[in-house]
Amino acid sequence: MEENINRIFPCSWYAVGFSNELGKKPVRKKVIGRNMVLYRDQKGGAHALHAYCPHRGADLSLGCVKNGRLMCAYHGWEFNGEGDCEEIPSQPGKPIPKFAHTASFPVTEHAGLIWVYPKPASDQEVPDFQIMPDLEDARYRLSPYKAEWKAHFTRVVESVLDVAHLSFVHKKTIGKRSKQAIQDLPYTHDGDQIVIQNGGGLLEYWFPQQWILRPSEKTKNSFINYVTFTPVDEEETLIFGYAGRTFAKKLKFMDKTFSKYSLKVLDEDKSVVESQHPRPIPEALRMEAHVYADGPQIAFRKRWFDFLTADEEHVSLDQPVKVY
Ligand code: FES
Ligand SMILES: [Fe+2]
Repeated sequence: MEENINRIFPCSWYAVGFSNELGKKPVRKKVIGRNMVLYRDQKGGAHALHAYCPHRGADLSLGCVKNGRLMCAYHGWEFNGEGDCEEIPSQPGKPIPKFAHTASFPVTEHAGLIWVYPKPASDQEVPDFQIMPDLEDARYRLSPYKAEWKAHFTRVVESVLDVAHLSFVHKKTIGKRSKQAIQDLPYTHDGDQIVIQNGGGLLEYWFPQQWILRPSEKTKNSFINYVTFTPVDEEETLIFGYAGRTFAKKLKFMDKTFSKYSLKVLDEDKSVVESQHPRPIPEALRMEAHVYADGPQIAFRKRWFDFLTADEEHVSLDQPVKVY
């Protein structure tokens, strides 16, 4: 069967939530159609398993953590972080069959976010995750925010590479001083990176999922804004963000102000991006009208089309997870 290119996404590390949201209770998440349950073992390590129990398909997030293992709510089967079943209470002492095991997904935590790799751990070697270094720079105090958009991943990514929309969509906030005419928009595109110089700000994007805005020159009081995108499926994308500041760091109450403002800005984009048709970017450049100011988005499209046509690791919504 030929793959539907609107339903495949780069196989990469995607954020599923903030670390402090995952406590004692298992939680359900979805990345590129993969339903997962996340939980913490007794040492606090995060794990992600296929969401449905291999026994009778109960949702494992209804269960609880027992001795560091995830216990299903229905008949008490217990799974370790690799998805191996280690306990079947109805037949104590008997060997546990292989088909009682389930799939697990690689998990890592960086900058207060939980990241999941959407291919089962046993499938292949997993690349190291590299987060943009600003996020681990102690000079910044980070205020978190998140949003859910009913839009295709590609449209969401393009919205943050778009400079010409600032004076329209964000005329009351970040685009107050932006000019409508874009006569000079220097940018570079090298492999997975696109860097755009926009006035005093430098926008940097790392394919497929990370983006940051930082001042182009180092100043004493500086402000950054970071977002990462997670494809839930063809129709929905999650956005996790941090507003970072080097000033007023002791004023914790300011965190809310920064988070709220960033969300407000993001919300200004939402209805426009959610309205875009076709849902993903069209499959060839000529199918939409481009002008000079769209240069960085054209660079993204080229990278996306390379992804669609080359033999890069990808995940398809049409391929279910193999659980054992
Ligand atoms: S359905 Fe999970 S233990 Fe039976
Ligand atoms: Fe925007």
